[in-house]
Amino acid sequence: MTHPADAARRADAAHPDASTNRSSVLQRGVIGLSAALLGWAGVAALRGTVRALVRRAHPLDGRVVLITGGARGLGLALARAFARDGARLVLVSRTVVELERARQELAASGADVQVVAHDIRDAGGSARLVAEVVARTGRLDVLVNDAGIIQMAPFAAVPDADIRDSLDTHVWGPLHLNRAALPHVARSRGSIVNVSSIGGRVAVPHLLPYCVGKFALAGLSEGLHAELAATGVHLLTVTPGLLRSGSHRNVRVRGAHVAEARWFGLASATSLTSMRVDRAADRIVRACRERRAQLTLGVQARALEVAHVLAPGAVAGAMRLAAWVLPAAPPTPEAERARLSRTLDLGWVSALMPSGTAAAMNQPSAVDDR
Ligand SMILES: NC(=O)c1ccc[n+]([C@@H]2O[C@H](COP(=O)([O-])OP(=O)(O)OC[C@H]3O[C@@H](n4cnc5c(N)ncnc54)[C@H](OP(=O)(O)O)[C@@H]3O)[C@@H](O)[C@H]2O)c1
Repeated sequence: MTHPADAARRADAAHPDASTNRSSVLQRGVIGLSAALLGWAGVAALRGTVRALVRRAHPLDGRVVLITGGARGLGLALARAFARDGARLVLVSRTVVELERARQELAASGADVQVVAHDIRDAGGSARLVAEVVARTGRLDVLVNDAGIIQMAPFAAVPDADIRDSLDTHVWGPLHLNRAALPHVARSRGSIVNVSSIGGRVAVPHLLPYCVGKFALAGLSEGLHAELAATGVHLLTVTPGLLRSGSHRNVRVRGAHVAEARWFGLASATSLTSMRVDRAADRIVRACRERRAQLTLGVQARALEVAHVLAPGAVAGAMRLAAWVLPAAPPTPEAERARLSRTLDLGWVSALMPSGTAAAMNQPSAVDDR
C-alpha cells in the first residue's frame, strides 16, 4: 500500500506547481488569521479606549441619581454602586421602614442620601416627586426606573387587575417619571435607566402580567433612546436575567401558591440559574457611565436572547415544556386569591433559599427565614 505522504511527494515531483500552491494557500491562511486576530484586538482596544473616554466625560461624582425601588434588592445594590462613584442619592419606594433602613446604611458609609415614600403608580404624583427632588437637591442628573413587582400564576388564575397593576408599575409609572424628569436630565445631558427584564424579551409561562409590562417597558425605553438623542439625554435599557436579590420573598402568587413560590425561589437561588445582584448593579452603573443603549445581564439571559433570535421555534417549544411542568391552578376559589411568597411555608425548599442575601439586600422577613 502507498503511504499518503509518499503519494503527495510523488505528486509534487510530477507537478512542482501543486506544492508551491499548497504552501502559498497555507501562508495566505496564516496571514489572514493573524490579520483577523490583530483586527479583533485593535477593535477591542479601540472600544476600551472610547469607553474609558466616555466614562471620563460623564462622571457621576456629585450628580443626583433618583432610584425608584431603591430601598431594597437591585435598587439598593444600585444605590451602593452609584454612591461608590460619588453620586448623591434619592431613593423612592412605598415602604417607609425599608427606606429608612436603606438611608441609615448608606449614610453610615458616607453617602449623601435622601428618601421619599412614593407610589409610582400615582400618575399625577410623578411631577410632584421630581419637583420635590429638584427643590431638595437643586438638580436631577440620572433617573433609574427600577421599581417592579413580580406576579406568578397560570393564565387561568390571572385577573385583569394583575395585568393593569403590572402596566401601571412597569410602564405608566416609568413613562410619567421619564416625562417629568426629562427637562432636568436634559439640562445636564444625563441618563435615564429603565430596568426591564429578560421577561421583556422572551415571554415566560406563569409570568404573563410581568412579561406584558416588561415587554412594553423595553419598547418604550428603546423608542425613547432614539427620539431623545437630540436632547442629549442618554437612555439605557437593562434586561437582567434572574438575580439573587432576595426578591423571591416578594412574589405575589396565585394558583398552586406554594408550588409557584417554590419554583421562583429555586430558580433565583442558585448560581447556575441566577446572577449576583451586586455584580449586576456594578455592570449597570458602568453601562450608564459609558452611555450604552442596552445591557442584558447574566449568561443565561444572553443565551436565551440569542436563541430567541436564531431559533424562535425551539425557544417556543422550550417554553411550552416549561408551561407543562409548572403547576396548574387547583379548581378552588382559594387558588384565585393572591398570596405573598414570604407568608408561605415552602417546606424543604426553605433551607435552599438565600436568606443571607435577602437580609443583606434589606428584604422583608419571611416565614421560611429560620
Ligand atoms: N430579581 C430578579 O430576578 C429580576 C430579574 C429581572 C429584572 N428584575 C427587575 O429588577 C427590578 C428590581 O427587582 P428586585 O429583585 O430588586 O425586586 P424587589 O426586591 O422586590 O424590589 C422592588 C422594589 O420596587 C419597589 N416598588 C414596587 N412597586 C412600587 C411602586 N408602585 N412604587 C414605588 N416603589 C415600588 C419596592 O418597594 P415597595 O414595595 O416598598 O414599594 C422595592 O423597593 C424590578 O423592576 C424587577 O422586575 C429583577
